[in-house]
Order: sequence, then C-alpha cells, then structure tokens
Amino acid sequence: QKDGYEWYMLKEIVEQPKAVADTLLGRHTQDGRLQLDEMRLSDDELRNVDKIVAIACGTSYYAAMVAKYAIEHWTRIPVEVELASEFRYRDPILDQSTLVVTISQSGETMDTLMAIRYARQQKARVLSICNTNGSTIPRESDAVIYTHAGPEVAVASTKAFLAQIVACYVLGLYLAQVKGAKYGDEIARILDDLIATPAAIQRMLDEADVVRKIAADLNGARSFIFLGRHVGYPVALEGALKLKELAYLHAEGFAAGELKHGPIAVIEEGVPVFVVVPPPGRNEVHEKVVSNIQEVRARGARTIVLAEDGDESVVPYADHLIWLPKVPTLLQPLVATVPLQIFACEFAAQLGHDVDQPRNLAKSVTVE
Ligand code: F6R
Repeated sequence: QKDGYEWYMLKEIVEQPKAVADTLLGRHTQDGRLQLDEMRLSDDELRNVDKIVAIACGTSYYAAMVAKYAIEHWTRIPVEVELASEFRYRDPILDQSTLVVTISQSGETMDTLMAIRYARQQKARVLSICNTNGSTIPRESDAVIYTHAGPEVAVASTKAFLAQIVACYVLGLYLAQVKGAKYGDEIARILDDLIATPAAIQRMLDEADVVRKIAADLNGARSFIFLGRHVGYPVALEGALKLKELAYLHAEGFAAGELKHGPIAVIEEGVPVFVVVPPPGRNEVHEKVVSNIQEVRARGARTIVLAEDGDESVVPYADHLIWLPKVPTLLQPLVATVPLQIFACEFAAQLGHDVDQPRNLAKSVTVE
C-alpha cells in the first residue's frame, strides 16, 4: 500500500498535487465562479456573517492561521483563529451571526468536537472542513466542506494540511462571491492561480534531492529555528512542528518580525535557521525578512533560505537555498511547506526513527 515508498508519509507528500487538485474539483465553473453544491448554509445566512472564528488543533490550526490572511483580505470579514483546547475555556463571544469554521483531518479530535458543541450552544453556525467522510465532527456541524486528500495514514499530517488550506480558500472566495465584496473581481484570477498550484507543488517534489542533501549536511544539528512572516509565519510553525514530531528534536518557529523582541538571543554558532522569504516585488515585508537572514547569519546561524526563483537578494546570506516557483503570496504556503515536510521526514529517517509512527503520538486525538 505504500506504492514502493519507504514511508506512508513520503507517499502522502508525493500525493499533494492530487490532494490539492481534488479539493478544487467540481467546486468552480469554467468562467471562474465558485460553486459549493454541498454548502448547507444559504447565501442569506452567509451574507449575515459578521465574524468568523476558525478553530483547530496542531497542523490544522496552522491551516486556520494561513486562512485568516486570505479570508480577511478577500471578504473583509474579521477572522479569529483559536486553538480548540483554549476556545471554550475563555468565555468567547459568539452569536447567530458568527460563523465558526473548524478544521480537522480526522473529524474525531475531541478538543475540536467540544468546541463545536460549545459554539452551537451559543447559537453560532458551524462549518467544518474535514478529510474523513462520516466522522463525528461533520455530523455535528451545520455545514461541511470535505478536503479530498484521501486517507492519511502517517501520523504526521502532510497532504491534509495543503488540502485544508485549499478548502479554506474555496470558502473564502465563495464568501467573497456571495457578499460581492471589494475583492470580488480578484476571484477568477486567484482561482486560476490555485488551479495552477498542483504543477508548482510537483516541481517541489521533483527537486526533493536538494532538500535531502541539506538534511545530510545538517546531520548532527540538535536544535532548529524556523522564521516566516505573513502567511510564511504559519509555514514556519508547521516546519518546526513536523521536525519536533518526527525527529524528537528542539525546533521552534517564530514570526520573523518578532526576532528582535527576544528570540534572536537563542541564535548561536552553527544553529540551523530556515527562513521562508515572501515573494519580492510588491511585497512590503520581503526586505525585512532579508534583513532578518543577515541578522541571524551575523550571529553564526547556518541559514536555509526558501525564496522565489530569481530572488537574488537572498543569495549572499544563504548557506543553503531552496528555490520556490513564482506564485501569489497567499499561495506560497502550498509550495513552501513541501520542502519542510521532506526535510523533517529525511532528517528523522537519518536518525533511525519510525517516520510513520512517531513516539508518543496518535493519529486521532480522541481525548481532551
Ligand atoms: C501534526 C498532526 C497533529 C494534528 C492535530 C489535529 O502532524 O498530525 O498536530 O494536526 O492533532 O488533528 P485533526 O486535524 O485530525 O483534528
């Protein structure tokens, strides 16, 4: 069943172009409009939404963080992102015009399920984004958008994460369409870009040897830092989580802009620092992230830089470079996450760990 791959995780990483394409399939028309036949909430109900609260755990929570940037931009509806385990213990403000969006691969995560029950008691509408047909979370929700990533066997989530981001984007674009929001005319363009991402993800897979070589070169490192900004920030968090889970090593993700507010103190000679660089050009945070690379390198860090093709500004400060295809900023997580998944998988395998069944972890966390 591993189709010749050593690990399910590798097989699932390789399935990502298909997971993304399948999650888009049948959800748009030829002329660039979103259609969600499965959406059980009416357009009137959706027009009434004045706040979105996105709730999830772990990797799914990072998908929610990515979604916030896109959904707020396209719809102008405020999006709060919540850890399911924190949400119902802090007296959250919800009512009939709140749309709670929960994200779960398994559909059985107890923390998320409890958050749904709480939200519904408070009269909020609940839409779940889920990868598992017939699981508990979609059954207890008012509406569901399934991610069509296919079964995920490896404990560490990979293809479900990319599919979750895509499903959130489909939702965001659909809401923008229903509301006729300011960025409505961007919908057709961004949809075309989304449809093109499986090919960009495939390129990241084809270039996996670059990442394998970096994993071999960093052999011996025992602590890792990941930096990103804007949608690159949750990507950094996800890169760190994958490495923690699989390699059992210290790995931390930070918002690059926070570096000078504390984390830079931990940078010392030889520590590997992965930096997700936003696309250059119109992106106002690009230069700031490039300065961050210089700052950590001046303190002895070994820098592994993920930057867009042709972004020569990073070359002088990169000990290792991973080139990313040109995609709009909001879609960059769909390509930039892939080498970080491959790195975690390779690094853990190098240490002799069971990549598919990391110690202490379960695929579905059905206790609070
Ligand atoms: C990370 C991972 C976990 C899950 C989290 C939520 O690789 O697998 O962090 O993402 O336990 O699980 P779901 O999405 O099933 O609710």
